[in-house]
Amino acid sequence: MKKEQFVKDINVGDKIDAPFVVVEKKMMDFNTQKKTGEKFMLLRLRDNTGTIKAVLWERAEQTANYVHEDTIVWVKGKTQEYKGVQIIIDEIEAIAEDIDLTPFVPSSSIGSEELKKELRKTIKNINNKYLTELLNTIFEDQKLLSLYLKAPAGKKVHHNYLGGLAEHSLEVIKIVSSMYQLYQDRINWDLLVTGSLLHDIGKIYEYDLNSPSFQMTDRGKLLGHIALGEELIRSKIDRLSYFPESLAVEIRHMILSHHGEKEWGSPEVPKTFNALCLFYGDLISSRLNQVDKLFFEAETGEQEENFNWTNFDPLMGRAFYLPQEETSEQIEGSQLSLDNLTES
Ligand SMILES: [Fe+2]
Ligand SMILES: [Fe+2]
Repeated sequence: MKKEQFVKDINVGDKIDAPFVVVEKKMMDFNTQKKTGEKFMLLRLRDNTGTIKAVLWERAEQTANYVHEDTIVWVKGKTQEYKGVQIIIDEIEAIAEDIDLTPFVPSSSIGSEELKKELRKTIKNINNKYLTELLNTIFEDQKLLSLYLKAPAGKKVHHNYLGGLAEHSLEVIKIVSSMYQLYQDRINWDLLVTGSLLHDIGKIYEYDLNSPSFQMTDRGKLLGHIALGEELIRSKIDRLSYFPESLAVEIRHMILSHHGEKEWGSPEVPKTFNALCLFYGDLISSRLNQVDKLFFEAETGEQEENFNWTNFDPLMGRAFYLPQEETSEQIEGSQLSLDNLTES
């Protein structure tokens, strides 16, 4: 099986004959009288270049038995304009054979080697010997390291691609470094860097890394990455010959409070200066990436409405206005009215 047609190249009017992974499936009721009681299927399909909407009008209920989220499907059909580009499916088949997931799973634009290099450099710059030892026991474990470099930081919301976890964690360090410039006396830099690197490490167990749409594992659904991460760190600290108790409590607090509010999933709210910085750094990194994704979708024609706005983001409760380029006539027009104003 070879994938030759990619989402980024698909335009209105194109014929479709290619495999994709199903990342979202919705069964919808027809609201016409003729088809009362029947359903059609709305899909969001993805490959490593983006996502695209697709609709199946006929035989949707039979098809729903073998097309699920996370299934790789071969789709034949054509595209039309409906709030952006949409595939009208003529045929859809689930692919059962073992296939290489690379063409279907997006990955960080920073390569894995580059992320590994930056991670190593960051750890090397830590002076606190206990924190260095803790980070070494985690990242010198080749299995943990490769999971950390592979995991996404999210399924949908932010950094939702392979390498996303490492990219996001290193990005948090860049953001909190400006806080350190302003509050050097209040911040324990080594601890803040350690917390930034480790705050989401539970995500290596929260997502199934063999699932093309990053489905959550049972452990992830039942325990969540905050508890999983804290458990991993605590077990690593317990195995070290000596680790100061106060440092252990502070780092565990940073993990447990990094979502900032109890209603955002944190069992504790940040109660140290370092934990507060981590929370804000994490929030900035995740929100900006989330909005960057909306702008990217708009630029690549994936937005629902083809106007001056991005898709609506339900988590942020808004769509974003896209920067508008002024046409040369508009620039000339405003120049003329400015001239009139200065002459009068
Ligand atoms: Fe998190
Ligand atoms: Fe995070």
